[in-house]
Order: sequence, then structure tokens, then C-alpha cells
Amino acid sequence: MPGPILIFDSGVGGLSVTAALRARLPAATLAYVCDNAMLPYGTKSDDWLVSRIVETCVSAVGASGAAVLVVACNTASTLALRELRARLEIPVVGTVPAIKPAAQLSVSRVIGLLATSATVNRAYTQTLIADFAADCRIVRVAADGLVGEAERQLAGLAPDDGALEAALAPLWIDAALDTVVLGCTHFPLLRRRLEASAPRAINWVDSGEAIARRVASVLDGSGYVRGREGRAWASAPGPVLAATLAGYGFTALEALSLSDETHIPSR
Ligand code: DGL
Repeated sequence: MPGPILIFDSGVGGLSVTAALRARLPAATLAYVCDNAMLPYGTKSDDWLVSRIVETCVSAVGASGAAVLVVACNTASTLALRELRARLEIPVVGTVPAIKPAAQLSVSRVIGLLATSATVNRAYTQTLIADFAADCRIVRVAADGLVGEAERQLAGLAPDDGALEAALAPLWIDAALDTVVLGCTHFPLLRRRLEASAPRAINWVDSGEAIARRVASVLDGSGYVRGREGRAWASAPGPVLAATLAGYGFTALEALSLSDETHIPSR
């Protein structure tokens, strides 16, 4: 079925995968949905998150007529991919921390995992580490505060460099660490600041390329997906978000239609 590639995240983090998708699938139409009313996801309870993520994605897939859903959120993917695939009839491509490519790159075998507290602690993440980086020491750093800093930056405000440095500090304790996995899609948006605050050259690994490759292979044979250009949905649309999204080519922001059931977050 023709339709856009719908990118989903809690907030603006999913915008970090748009460049890789556009580079690999230049003729495809992208659409965007975010659940910014409930930001951040990384500190909410798993049960509530599953219902909320499914409700948000089902509503946005219906509104957009998407041909494929990209869950551009590690926190959501490491928790709810099975439920999303059970509820949706279109292919669902998830985002999980890039442990495998990081393990291929690391010479010292000491790797940092920078992600939300939810992702850092998930069984899914533990399995990725056991499967692909069993011979590495993984320094897990929960950096929920950086989600807000990335949101601030994209809203045109200066992120707090002190907060950024404090969040990264645990990574630098082991001088052998040579590679950092950006296990939250918000973090590549801060890439220049992260690089600037690192005490030495580091391999920063994100999931953008891998997602784009996966989407291209899922769509193989069905041609480029098309739909109306520039559409986006949010649970809390507003002028600041609209301006940010327009900067990434999403010029028509609408309110997402959601039931009342998941409107009260549980932590
Ligand atoms: N961008 C999301 C991720 O990749 C997390 C943001 C949040 O905690 O809401 O994990």
C-alpha cells in the first residue's frame, strides 16, 4: 500500500533519523508523530508506556495512512515492539542501542552506553550486550536529563553545558573507554556538544544508518512510499514544536486524536 514512512518518538528525538532516511530513500515521503505531552518516556512505568505507545502509534498510523512505522525511540522499541507488531498491519521497524556496531569498532573493549534509565536497565538491552558484546565491559550511563537538553536545543534555547558535562562524567572514569553508544535518539541531536565535552577522541555510534538500511530492505520491491508531504502529529502541538518540525520539512502539524485512557502517566 502506498503511504509515507511514519517516524515516531516521544519528542523531537526521531528527527535525528530523518537525514539517514532521506539519504537512503530520497523519493520517499516522511511523516512524523510525537507524544510530547508525555515527555520524557524514559522515567515512566513500563505498563503505562506500552498502552500509551500502542495508542499513539495506532492513532497516527490511521491518520497518516503510513506504509511503514519507524519507532525512532529506544525506550519504546526495547519495550513495545511485540505489542505494536501485534496491533498494526504494516511493517514496524524499531530502534535498539547500537551495541553490535560499537563492539565491532571498539579496540579497547570498553564501551559506554548512554541512554535513558529505562533503556539502560531493560532486559532487551542486556540480551543485546550478551549476544554482541560479551567480551566488552559496558559502562551503562542513564542520562534522562539529556532528553530535555536536546528538546531545549531544538526549541532554539541553549542547552546547559554544565548538565551535559555532569551527565557524561561517569563515562570518562575508565580511561580505556573508546566508544560510546548513543542509545537514545535525542542524543545524536547533541552530537557536536557531546564531542566537544569529551576529554579525548571517541567513536560515537548511533542507530540512524542501521534504521535507514532496515527500512529500505523492508520496503524492497514495494517501491518508494509516497503520501502527502510534510505532515506531522503531536499529542501537544504548539508553535515552538511546529517551527522545529518545519525546520526538518514537516510543515503541517496537527493534534493527534487519543482517548482519555492513557492521559495520566504512571511512574
Ligand atoms: N528518544 C527516546 C529514546 O530513543 C527517549 C526520550 C524519552 O525518554 O522520552 O529513547
